[in-house]
Amino acid sequence: MEILIANESHFKYAEIICDTIAESAKIRGTGIAKRTPEYICKKLSNGNAVIALDEGVFAGFCYIEVWGHEKFVANSGLIVHPDFRDRGLAKQIKQKIFDLSRKKFPDAKIFGITTGLAVMKINYELGYKPTTFSELTDDPEFWKGCQTCKNFDILTRTERKMCLCTGMLYDPAVQTKKKEEEPEREKLNTKAFKRLKSIKETLFLKKK
Ligand SMILES: CC(C)(COP(=O)(O)OP(=O)(O)OC[C@H]1O[C@@H](n2cnc3c(N)ncnc32)[C@H](O)[C@@H]1OP(=O)(O)O)[C@@H](O)C(=O)NCCC(=O)NCCS
Repeated sequence: MEILIANESHFKYAEIICDTIAESAKIRGTGIAKRTPEYICKKLSNGNAVIALDEGVFAGFCYIEVWGHEKFVANSGLIVHPDFRDRGLAKQIKQKIFDLSRKKFPDAKIFGITTGLAVMKINYELGYKPTTFSELTDDPEFWKGCQTCKNFDILTRTERKMCLCTGMLYDPAVQTKKKEEEPEREKLNTKAFKRLKSIKETLFLKKK
């Protein structure tokens, strides 16, 4: 398995990346924002994406988005093809895109919003901490990305204060200090996260 910083030679994978994201969104039934092949190609050509290939076969992908004049970056669009799941590939892709983000944007806070336990776990181990949406970027373009999520009405109803997704933030200033003090990586309390998710679903999802 090769995990590479993507470039224009990977344009041919843009279609399968979008299709895999769309298929997974359908199956999962919760928020994954839609992406077009043109958008993916932009990410491939500006060196802000990581692709995993198994002897040339598409296995996974993730990209960097830059917000609020480089004060924030997000590692978004994480996808692992179903044929390559449950073998630690997402973890490796996220580590690579995290390292790339730290290298290209050393002063930026890195954030993400997710409903997925796998992503919560991975982010937590990278040093992200759960936080409120008010601590994340207020760049309207970022939040516009949520429009294609089926839970967008919740975000609108709460005036962007909360949604089913949990916000997570890596603050380089805080983390550098912490690393010096206690280098051990912590594990996410998955029980607490599952409970929080279920409370939010009860509160926000309208009963059919
Ligand atoms: C979520 C996804 C990226 C995980 O990819 P993966 O390569 O199978 O993940 P990994 O094998 O690296 O697993 C990382 C950790 O998450 C856990 N995990 C993986 N899938 C999980 C799931 N569906 N539910 C709960 N935990 C999960 C693993 O057990 C592992 O935990 P550990 O460190 O305690 O062992 C993949 O299932 C996917 O592409 N899903 C659809 C798209 C998606 O949901 N993207 C995230 C958008 S926010």
